[in-house]
Amino acid sequence: MRCLVTGGSGFIGSHLVEALAAAGHQVGVVDNLSTGSLDNLAGLAAGGRYPAVYQTDIAHPRLAEVFDDFRPEAVFHLAAQVDVRVSVDQPGVDAKTNILGSVNVLENSARTGVGKVVFASSGGAVYGEPRHLPVTEDHPRAPMSPYGLTKYAVEHYLRIFAETKGLKYAAMRLANIYGPRQEGGEQNGVVTIFTRAMLSGRQCRIFGDGEQLRDYVYVSDIVAAFVAGLDPRARGAYNVGTGVGTSVNQVFAELARATGYAAPAVYTDPRAGEVRDIYLSAGRIERELGWRPAVSFAEGVRRTVDFYSAKLSEAARQAAAGKQAAAAKQAAAHDAR
Ligand SMILES: NC(=O)c1ccc[n+]([C@@H]2O[C@H](COP(=O)([O-])OP(=O)(O)OC[C@H]3O[C@@H](n4cnc5c(N)ncnc54)[C@H](O)[C@@H]3O)[C@@H](O)[C@H]2O)c1
Repeated sequence: MRCLVTGGSGFIGSHLVEALAAAGHQVGVVDNLSTGSLDNLAGLAAGGRYPAVYQTDIAHPRLAEVFDDFRPEAVFHLAAQVDVRVSVDQPGVDAKTNILGSVNVLENSARTGVGKVVFASSGGAVYGEPRHLPVTEDHPRAPMSPYGLTKYAVEHYLRIFAETKGLKYAAMRLANIYGPRQEGGEQNGVVTIFTRAMLSGRQCRIFGDGEQLRDYVYVSDIVAAFVAGLDPRARGAYNVGTGVGTSVNQVFAELARATGYAAPAVYTDPRAGEVRDIYLSAGRIERELGWRPAVSFAEGVRRTVDFYSAKLSEAARQAAAGKQAAAAKQAAAHDAR
């Protein structure tokens, strides 16, 4: 199948591209590299499975040429302005990518007869403060940030495109995702932020009392949910979560164990505009598409710590090699004098 992944050089997108390529699909990537990096796709070069990469903005009219060139049968739409703070401070910037860019993706999908669009929505952002836990898909949607609002707006665009143009879709309302290659912001990326801080011996900062609950899902499980979105039975919105709330204090403790970090966390003021507790019921996606998370939190943490340990050792090795080379050059210059 010809699969186009918008945001394919980002954290989740690059894992999805790898999985699709490994399953034998032809993969195209649309990305403006604003937060993503082609380094995230480097592993695919060796296996001869490097995707067709189109470096362009999803809101740009040039996107039409990408669709005409690649002729995707399925589109995974992950490209987005992902920072909640930016959406609050610059809602216009956020809406340009997340609404106008998304509408551009949907228009081109409908125009070129794409068979299915699978969209990365947000379970943490579309519901607002939960009235019951775990949150089910029919829970009232009351986004508390422009970011959440854009995600929910795109779900409605998808519904309307389905009704008016016959475009088939599934919207995956993702929980808090973690794993290798996440560079993310302070909220969603807490596992990664703590992992990197602990491995480099830096302080870990917790906003509020650390008892706030979130639903952490390892990235490979999210990839499996996106692929399940291709199932002809998949339609409408699905929560993709574990159904389990884990506190930030628990995350801190689990990571401290895994990395051997002994310093205490530093507690600071809670951040305004964030929900207190949220975790998602994934009953619908399990019943209808047979998806359930396969990686436990302990195992996901182990894999994440292994990845960042290797990355930091490599960076340290390169820095040491750089220093040695500079010293050798200086010595040679000295000898020449
Ligand atoms: N990480 C999470 O916990 C989480 C939770 C819920 C939803 N999501 C959604 O999943 C998707 C992927 O998120 P991620 O965590 O991998 O973030 P990411 O920042 O790593 O990936 C986003 C990708 O989109 C690209 N991009 C951004 N604006 C673009 C534009 N205008 N045109 C083309 N490309 C553009 C970026 O360069 C990047 O590669 C996003 O839609 C995000 O909102 C993520």
